[in-house]
Amino acid sequence: MDSKIVGGKVVTASETFRADVGIKNGRIVQLASRIKDKARQTIEAKGCYILPGAIDVHTHLDMPFGGSMTADDFFTGTRAAAFGGTTCLIDFAIQGKGQSLSEALEAWHAKADGKACFDYGFHLAVTDAREEVIDELDQVVKHGVTSFKVFLAYKGSLMIDDGAFFKILRRAKEVGALTMLHAENGEIIDVLVNEALAAGNTEPIYHALTRPEEVESEATARAISLAEMAGAPLYVVHLSCALALEQVKAAREGGLPIMAETCPQYLLLDIKRYLEPDFEGAKYVMSPPLRDRYNWPYLWRGLADGDLQVVSTDHAPFNFKGQKEMGRDNFAAIPNGAPGIENRVALIFNEGVRKNRISLNKMVDLLSTTPAKIFGLAPRKGSVAIGADADLVVFDPRAEMMITAETNHHNMDYTPYEGFKGKGRVVHVLCNGELIVDGDEFLGQAGQGRFIKRNKFSYVA
Ligand code: URP
Ligand code: ZN
Ligand code: ZN
Repeated sequence: MDSKIVGGKVVTASETFRADVGIKNGRIVQLASRIKDKARQTIEAKGCYILPGAIDVHTHLDMPFGGSMTADDFFTGTRAAAFGGTTCLIDFAIQGKGQSLSEALEAWHAKADGKACFDYGFHLAVTDAREEVIDELDQVVKHGVTSFKVFLAYKGSLMIDDGAFFKILRRAKEVGALTMLHAENGEIIDVLVNEALAAGNTEPIYHALTRPEEVESEATARAISLAEMAGAPLYVVHLSCALALEQVKAAREGGLPIMAETCPQYLLLDIKRYLEPDFEGAKYVMSPPLRDRYNWPYLWRGLADGDLQVVSTDHAPFNFKGQKEMGRDNFAAIPNGAPGIENRVALIFNEGVRKNRISLNKMVDLLSTTPAKIFGLAPRKGSVAIGADADLVVFDPRAEMMITAETNHHNMDYTPYEGFKGKGRVVHVLCNGELIVDGDEFLGQAGQGRFIKRNKFSYVA
C-alpha cells in the first residue's frame, strides 16, 4: 500500500462512518475500520472528516473577457482551489468568433496542460454557432468534452440567438452531451444599460439594476421551453434568485431533465454590496448580479430539497487594481466576475452545515458526488469508494477559520468573502493518492493534473 489515512470519519453523500482509507497506485483500495497493512505514508486524521475532493464544475482560468484576462491561470487557480479542498475542476474553453471548436480546445489545452496541479476537464462554450460548428459537436464529445455552454447574455460578444441555441440543444442531445446555459436576456439588458448610461448612471449599482431578476427568470423559462421542444436536457449555471428557481422547480416537477447550480455568492452576498464606497462595489460586479437577500432562504431550500443539484464557484477573478478599475466611469466596462475557487468548502460548511441548512452528507453531494455524476466523472471521482481515484480531503471541523485576501492563495488583491469566519480547515489534500496540501504547505506541482476525458451525459435525477 502506498498510503493510508487513519483514524478519521469518512463522509459520502449518503453515509458517515469511521474508517481508515488505503491507497495504492492513485486509487482507493481499502476501506476498513482499521487497516493494519504497512504503508509508505500514514496520514493521521483523528477528529477529522475524510471527504471526497470537491469538484468545481464552473471556473474561468486564464480567460480573456471584457477587455481583460482572468487573474488566475491553471497553476495559481488549481493551487488555490486545492488549499480550499477542491481536487478537480471543469473549466470553460471559449470558442472565439470565427474559430472552430477544435481550435478552441487546442487553445485551452495550451493553457492547462503542464500547468494544472490536479485533474481537469473542459466544457466548450459555443459563441459562433455556424453550421460547420454544429457539425463539429460530435468530434468534441469524442475528445471527452461532453458539455457545451451557451450564453443568452453578453450581446456583441458571447451571446447567441435562440435559433442557434435550439440547434445546439438538439445536436448535443444526439451526440450524448449536456447543454449548459447562462440564463439572462441579453437584448433587454442591452436596452437597460444604454438607458442607464444615457441618463448618467455610471456607478456599480447600475450593473445590478440593469439586470433585474426578471431578465434571468424570463431567459430560464424560455430556455426550458426550447429544451423541451428539442427533447434535450439542460443545466442552468449560476442561478441567482427565487424567480428563476421557480422555473426550474416547475420544470422538474413536470418531469423535464432540467438541472441547475447556484454559487456561494448568491447564497451569502447581497445587492447592497454594490453601494460600497470608493468604487469598491465593483468587486461584486458579476452576471447575474448579487440579489436582494430575500432570495437566500429560497436558494438554500432549493439545495436542501434537490431542486438545485450543485454548488460551483463561477471563479472569474479580476483584480480591483487595474482590472475592475477599468469601469470607474462606466459600470458596463467593469469586467464581470469574482473569485471564489478557494473558499467554497469553507463557506458551505459554515453557512450551510453548521447553520443546519443542509447536512454534511448533502454538502458532499452538492460539492462532489452529484457534479461528478452530472458531468461524466463518476464513478472515478466524486466519492470515497473502492476503485475511485484517491482525491481526498482531510478536514478538521474544530479548527478556526477566517477568510482574508491576504491568506487566500489565489492571484488576487481581494476576496468578496473578506472576514467570513467560523470553523473548519482543510488539513491534507490528496490528488490521485499524492499529498498536494499538507497544512500550510503546498506539495503539488504544475502539470501533475491530467486532462480527464469525461463520459457522455447519462445522469438521471
Ligand atoms: O460574471 C460572470 N459570471 N463572469 C464569468 C462569465 C460567466 O458569465 O459565467
Ligand atoms: Zn455565465
Ligand atoms: Zn461563469
